[in-house]
Amino acid sequence: MGGSVLVTGGAGFIGSHIAEAYLAAGWSVACLDDLSRGKESQVPPGAAFIRADVRDADAFSAVADGKYDVIVHQAAQIDVRVSVDEPALDASINLVGFANILSGAAAAGTRRVIFASSGGVVYGDPEVLPTPEPTATLPISPYGVSKLAGEHYLRVLGTLHGFEGVALRYANVYGPRQDPASEAGVVSIFVSRLLAGKPLTVFGDGTQTRDYVFVGDVARANLLAGTANVARGDRLDCPAFNIATGRETSVNDLAAHVGRALDRTPEITYAAARPGELYRSCLDISKAKADLGWEPEVPFDQGMQALAAWFEGARH
Ligand SMILES: NC(=O)c1ccc[n+]([C@@H]2O[C@H](COP(=O)([O-])OP(=O)(O)OC[C@H]3O[C@@H](n4cnc5c(N)ncnc54)[C@H](O)[C@@H]3O)[C@@H](O)[C@H]2O)c1
Repeated sequence: MGGSVLVTGGAGFIGSHIAEAYLAAGWSVACLDDLSRGKESQVPPGAAFIRADVRDADAFSAVADGKYDVIVHQAAQIDVRVSVDEPALDASINLVGFANILSGAAAAGTRRVIFASSGGVVYGDPEVLPTPEPTATLPISPYGVSKLAGEHYLRVLGTLHGFEGVALRYANVYGPRQDPASEAGVVSIFVSRLLAGKPLTVFGDGTQTRDYVFVGDVARANLLAGTANVARGDRLDCPAFNIATGRETSVNDLAAHVGRALDRTPEITYAAARPGELYRSCLDISKAKADLGWEPEVPFDQGMQALAAWFEGARH
């Protein structure tokens, strides 16, 4: 089943892969982005491009007039440290901007809005690992608060205006087009530094863990979420899905994996642990498997080789 979809943040890392996935499935695709971090060259051929800031009247009109079947909202301020230093900026993009897009969806009679939430931040420091969706949420950064509050806006405005909301709580996403300067991109940072013959910096003792999911798998989850039957329910987590692998990988293991995948021996330097960092993070994906028919397909080594090939291509 095709239709029309608007991907906000569609010139960015994850959004551009989502746009590709919808195009490949026969949908008509438009990408909206202010190019603050994204690049117009990353908007896939075949997708329309609208340059707008999600907070502006232009973005509201694009959504309200576009009459899209589905809005996939990826545009965001994505840096936890920026959210700590400038919480008002984070809230203006991630909350005011999202509320503006949702108002456009309400005006247009959009069928469904899919929201990029974050399983790495909405639960805070969870007691249960892998963490399932009904776990209590208690973010520890303003970015986490804005992602959790975004889910609340989605639920409330969807109920009031009749569109369906689906929140995808991503783990640590990696793959081609991830900016190594980006805060979330430790895999990207490690691969780019190893290819450049530079040492890898590990903060703390490297035993902290994350759940790394390949961007192509995340894009497929967004495509499935466009049409899957999703129960509404009376809890925030009812239309929320962890998009992850369910596997924990320590930063030390990540460095070793990157070395094996690239056939190089990483030199590791250890630096002081960063305050406020979660110690362990890993998400339970049973619900996405059962309800979306989704599970990750790309093994870690294969995903890292795809990332390395992209870096090599981008350098030549
Ligand atoms: N990368 C991860 O590991 C990860 C994990 C959890 C959640 N997420 C979420 O996934 C989404 C996509 O993240 P990404 O990693 O692709 O980051 P990204 O920075 O590559 O993509 C975000 C895009 O949004 C655009 N944007 C930013 N502010 C905007 C504004 N005011 N108006 C219009 N466009 C704007 C940027 O130009 C960029 O193209 C974000 O919502 C992020 O919070 C990412």
